[in-house]
Amino acid sequence: MQEIVIRRPDDWHLHLRDGAMLQGVLPETTRHFARAIVMPNLVPPVVTARDALAYRERILAALPEGAAFEPLMTLYLTEGTDPADVAAAAASGLVKAVKLYPAGATTNSQSGVRDLTKVMAVLERMAAIGLPLCTHGEVVDPAVDIFDREAVFIDSVLAPLRRRLPELRVVMEHITTEEGVAYAAEGGETLGATITTHHLILNRNHILAGGIRPHYYCLPVAKRERHRLALRRAATSGSPRYFLGTDSAPHVDALKEHACGCAGCFTATNTLPLLAHVFEAEGALDRLEGFASRHGPAFYRLPENAARLRLVKRAEPAVFAEKILTGAGPVTVFDPGFPVYWHVQD
Ligand code: DOR
Ligand code: ZN
Repeated sequence: MQEIVIRRPDDWHLHLRDGAMLQGVLPETTRHFARAIVMPNLVPPVVTARDALAYRERILAALPEGAAFEPLMTLYLTEGTDPADVAAAAASGLVKAVKLYPAGATTNSQSGVRDLTKVMAVLERMAAIGLPLCTHGEVVDPAVDIFDREAVFIDSVLAPLRRRLPELRVVMEHITTEEGVAYAAEGGETLGATITTHHLILNRNHILAGGIRPHYYCLPVAKRERHRLALRRAATSGSPRYFLGTDSAPHVDALKEHACGCAGCFTATNTLPLLAHVFEAEGALDRLEGFASRHGPAFYRLPENAARLRLVKRAEPAVFAEKILTGAGPVTVFDPGFPVYWHVQD
C-alpha cells in the first residue's frame, strides 16, 4: 500500500449550477475540496455583486451538514458591467475574479463579450485593484476550426490585451494546447493557467474514434495527443503557473446524450484519485500537492488550506458511482476508461 497526504485541495474552476442540480452536485465537491472558484454562467448569469452574493447564499444553504467549504464567487463580464460594481464586489472579499466569456463560445455565454473595447474600463479597474480575470480562451469566429480556437485566441485576443494592460492578472482557464502551455510558461506572475483533470486523460480520439462519446465532449474540446502530453508535462512540472481547475460541468444525461449534446465533463466525484493516477504515471506524485493545493492559493493571494487529504493506493480498483442522481436528473460521472487504484481516505 502506498499513500500520500496533501493539503486539502481547491478547485479553481467549477460549475455548481443552481436549484436541484446545485443540491445534487455540491456534496461531490465538498467531500474533497475546501474552496472553489464558482463559475457564473447561470441562466440568467451572475453579473452584479448583488447577484454573486445572492448566489453565494444559495450555495451555502445547499451545503451538506457539517461541510467546511468556501465558495469563491465570480462575476460574469458583460458589455454593460459597471467598473464600480466590480470594485465593490471585490471589496466585499467574497468575489475573487471576473469571468470573460467571448459571446457564443460555450454554455450560457450569449451574454458575454463581443467587443473587448467595450469592457476596457472594467479591465483597467480590475488591473488597478488586482482582481483576476478568468478567461474562456477561445475565439468564436466560425471560420476558425474548433481545434484551433484556443491558439488563435492567445495570438489575437489575449496577447494584445496583456500588452495593453500588463498589470491585469489573468487566468487562462482550462488550457488544452501546447500553445496554451507555452504562453502560460512565459507569462510571469500576473498569469496563471488552470488545467482540468479530463484534459490530462483525453485526446480527441477518445471522443470520436470507434463511436461518439458524448460524456467526453467539453469545451475547449480535447485536442491531439501531443497537446495532452504537453498538459501532463505542465501540470506535473512543479511550475506555479499551472493549477487545478476541474471545470467539472454537470449536465443531465438527457442533454448530454442528445442530437446536439451539451459540453461538459463531470469530474467532481473522482478528480483526486484520477489526478493521483496521472501524477504517479508521470513519476510526479510529490508534485500533486503543488498543482492541487498550493499554486492556486498563491496566484489568488489566499492562504493555503490547513486541513489535509490522504490518498491511498490499494490493490483493488476504486469503484466510482456511475451516475449522481440529482433532483434535476441523472448526471454521468466521468469514466477515465482505465482502472484507478487510488482512493481518497475519508
Ligand atoms: O465543457 C464546458 N462546459 N465548457 C465550458 O466552457 C462551459 C461548461 C458548462 O458550463 O457546461
Ligand atoms: Zn467552465
